Amino acid sequence: MTWLIEADYLTRILPATVPVTLVRDVSMTVGEREFIAITGPSGSGKSSLLYLLGLLDRPTSGSLKIAGQDTSVLDDNALARLRLEMLGFVFQFHFLLPEFSILRNVELPMRKAGRLSAAEMHDRAAGLLEDLGLAGHLDKRPDQLSGGQRQRVAVARALANDPHVVLADEPTGSLDSKSSEQVFQILRDLVHKRGKTVIAVTHDMEIAARVDRRIHLVDGKVVSDERAARAPV
Ligand SMILES: Nc1ncnc2c1ncn2[C@@H]1O[C@H](COP(=O)(O)OP(=O)(O)OP(=O)(O)O)[C@@H](O)[C@H]1O
Ligand SMILES: [Mg+2]
Repeated sequence: MTWLIEADYLTRILPATVPVTLVRDVSMTVGEREFIAITGPSGSGKSSLLYLLGLLDRPTSGSLKIAGQDTSVLDDNALARLRLEMLGFVFQFHFLLPEFSILRNVELPMRKAGRLSAAEMHDRAAGLLEDLGLAGHLDKRPDQLSGGQRQRVAVARALANDPHVVLADEPTGSLDSKSSEQVFQILRDLVHKRGKTVIAVTHDMEIAARVDRRIHLVDGKVVSDERAARAPV
């Protein structure tokens, strides 16, 4: 079986006079249609692990395979291509480009991938935004939307190139409870309706309690990795 993500003893140490270990000996496999929360205290390495899994950073030791491909042999261009094709990101702060319409923001990753015509990119971006309840806002700039709406744009952007895995770092961290619930339901639907795998870092224990699998980190190490016994809600 080919896993979407296969990490073996993944370790990231920041070189310094006193080296800092961000992630230590993390081994895990992630398959299709998983809904995973990464939890742990502040500073436990959650974001660092997400950056490694998302190919935004390279491990100091250990190995990481994405869709069976050993990432250690890839140069930066090949990593960027794999990232663009397999992975989508949602961050706590949306990082949308303020000078562009939300439609254009969602088109950008498609432009980078360079596979679709202008008309196809437009239609796909509009379709994703409409699916996320943003029809009628396509020409607005990010600052003309609410925080929850912006985060939904960020989800649409993450889906632009139809990734297998969506990685989210505190996707609900800056939202009020209603918008937070909406974004949670969208992430859950990505798994249960669209067949994506979602890995979300969260501080929110109510959210963590409702996913299918919880990975808990302490000091850069996985201290528990448990699957929900009951049907997900
Ligand atoms: N560039 C850096 N230089 C020095 N230390 C760093 C750097 N980046 C991260 N760290 C340290 O590495 C550890 C892990 O950081 P990381 O951001 O991954 O934690 P986190 O679990 O995401 O925390 P939070 O919940 O606050 O977002 C922390 O102790 C942090 O202070
Ligand atoms: Mg973090």
